[in-house]
Amino acid sequence: MERTDRLLSEMTLAEKLGQLTMIAADYAVTGPVITPYSEDAIRSGAIGNLLNLYGAGATQRIQKIAVEESRLGIPLLLGFDALHGQRTVFPIPLAEAGLFDPVTWEATARIAADECAGDGLNMTFAPMLDVSRDPRWGRIAESPGEDPFVACTFARAKTHGFQSASLAAPHTVAACAKHFAAYGAVTAGREYAPTDMSDVLLRETYLPPFEAAVEAGVAAIMPAFTDLNGIPLTAHVPLLRDVLRGEFGFDGVIVSDYHAIAELLNHGVAGDLAEAAALALKAGVDIDMMSDSYRLGLPEALQRNLVAMDEIDAAVRRVLLLKERLGLFQDPYRRGRADTGVTVQSRALARAVAARTLVLLKNAGNVLPLAARKIAVLGPLADAGGEMRGPWGGAGRPEDCVSVLQGLKDAGLDVRHAPGVAIDESDVSGIAGALDLCADADAILLCLGEAALMSGEAASRAYLGLPGRQQDLADAVFEKAAGKPVIVVLFSGRPLAVPELVSRAHAMLAAWFPGCEAGHAIADVLIGKVSPSGRTPVSWPRAVGQVPIFFGERPGGRPFNPKDHFTSHYSDVDNTPLFPFGHGLSYGDFELSNLRVEAGDLLTVKVDVTNRGARVAEETLFLFLNQKKPGVTRPLLELKDFGKIALPPSGQGTVTWTLPRPAAPAELFVGPNAAVSSLLSLSI
Ligand code: NOJ
Repeated sequence: MERTDRLLSEMTLAEKLGQLTMIAADYAVTGPVITPYSEDAIRSGAIGNLLNLYGAGATQRIQKIAVEESRLGIPLLLGFDALHGQRTVFPIPLAEAGLFDPVTWEATARIAADECAGDGLNMTFAPMLDVSRDPRWGRIAESPGEDPFVACTFARAKTHGFQSASLAAPHTVAACAKHFAAYGAVTAGREYAPTDMSDVLLRETYLPPFEAAVEAGVAAIMPAFTDLNGIPLTAHVPLLRDVLRGEFGFDGVIVSDYHAIAELLNHGVAGDLAEAAALALKAGVDIDMMSDSYRLGLPEALQRNLVAMDEIDAAVRRVLLLKERLGLFQDPYRRGRADTGVTVQSRALARAVAARTLVLLKNAGNVLPLAARKIAVLGPLADAGGEMRGPWGGAGRPEDCVSVLQGLKDAGLDVRHAPGVAIDESDVSGIAGALDLCADADAILLCLGEAALMSGEAASRAYLGLPGRQQDLADAVFEKAAGKPVIVVLFSGRPLAVPELVSRAHAMLAAWFPGCEAGHAIADVLIGKVSPSGRTPVSWPRAVGQVPIFFGERPGGRPFNPKDHFTSHYSDVDNTPLFPFGHGLSYGDFELSNLRVEAGDLLTVKVDVTNRGARVAEETLFLFLNQKKPGVTRPLLELKDFGKIALPPSGQGTVTWTLPRPAAPAELFVGPNAAVSSLLSLSI
């Protein structure tokens, strides 16, 4: 506090605005090249924070300029997007969400933080907490999926993982929860498009994960690029000031998204940079990322009385306090002492986590685990190690990633490979050659799906089928297979609408993007070393026209009734998803029984689980509630908790939950996914 006050009293306006500025430094082979600024801008205090610079040598060098060569010696915040790992790339967040395992969520964030800190970073723009119900939106890949309870649990685990008990510890980084709020509901799934939604939906679904992150002590928050109900989030006084800072009590740093403050001009709410800067500052945005609006606009905004110096000081104070909490004043070089890389331990964790995130969508006739040893491995994603990183691959290097082909070879399988087609091209001339390989194989593995960058930012899709000519390859293989098992490994950053592919494949694994140990993890599951335990954290549509599709719908006045035409339905497709939230098979065969509640102040819910299968496997169970409230409608199912249990063959166990007793009578449901037919229920 003392240091902050002293610094504030000594700072010129330019130095203050420098602290409110974050600029990208593109790391080139020869060293950092800071565009459009020079190291002189750091030396003069005109730039106080950077993003996109990593590596021990580079960060220490730049930090040294700030600390030892600028007038006030204030260290830099150095931020980077480590959404699912830094050097060790773990499965994409959507895949990891499907673990339903907060301990693992925290553990992978801890490794990412450690590697970020090793790279000299002190902030990461993660976790991403946008509830996403629209697979057209590419950023669903970065999200924890469709459910707010899952997103809240994910928010807490990730915040603790990145920040540990003390932000000052040398292996931690400041987490930045993003993108506040409702970005996942962009119109028609189109990236950066505006959002309009009711206060009820916003409060019930989109805000809670951010409140959970604030409660967990998240250091920073990033407003979304988008416009919500007519106000851009970057200038959203009701949400940033009143809800986030006021109601949730967030006193950390708000960092704008990339160039978002200047984009207030495009939104049409600001006439010039001074107005844009004033709007953002007044809403509570402390740091301008990449638009330089604060440095260029706030001096004029002060002159025009659009902002007061107090407001600038308050933002600077928050930035300095974060630097204090990170221990940067005490020892600016505590992070970035030595370059980190993938280690034996981090690789082992990446493999184990990736294997557990794979979702076995279908396994007709139990063709998996594979009995065959001679495998034709076809498709453009079989030999594509770099793609396995998915979007936002951190600082993960393609050469550190294991392809499916490599993984199968390492597992000792006899593999022959041809891609057949490219991921997204029209050339089908390779299909014949790929088919030739089927003749001499006992099973066919088709590795299909999206390229890594078909999801993530600015990657919306209107069609959710296989890109390019991959469907032609699949069709040709199904024709040619002659009774041999065809197993599809599907890579994607989102659910795909591929009902025909599902119906023709014998088995199908949704691999999402599994990260650097993809090939080993996939081999582990295919050969039965690991039983798949991933469960989809989003509903898979049958057709794009069903989107947004999610289990937490309200019943409506005319819920679907097959005997009554005038009830809610499509004339050309079922209402139900292709795969419901929570779907995922395993090599076990689980039976649930004896759902019961025990009396007490809290509600204790128990269900017995038996593994009738022949293998050790892990089951995931979900606890839903349907509560009636006077005057307002409620979703048919609200997720209240989840639990996992691993059991050997014939093993039995009990999953137990405790939760607050509902105020009014309610219906309780427990089951392996959100399909009503698979649930046990009890009135309480
Ligand atoms: C834009 C993205 O929306 C945001 O999530 C990210 O943190 C920044 N770019 C910085 O890379």
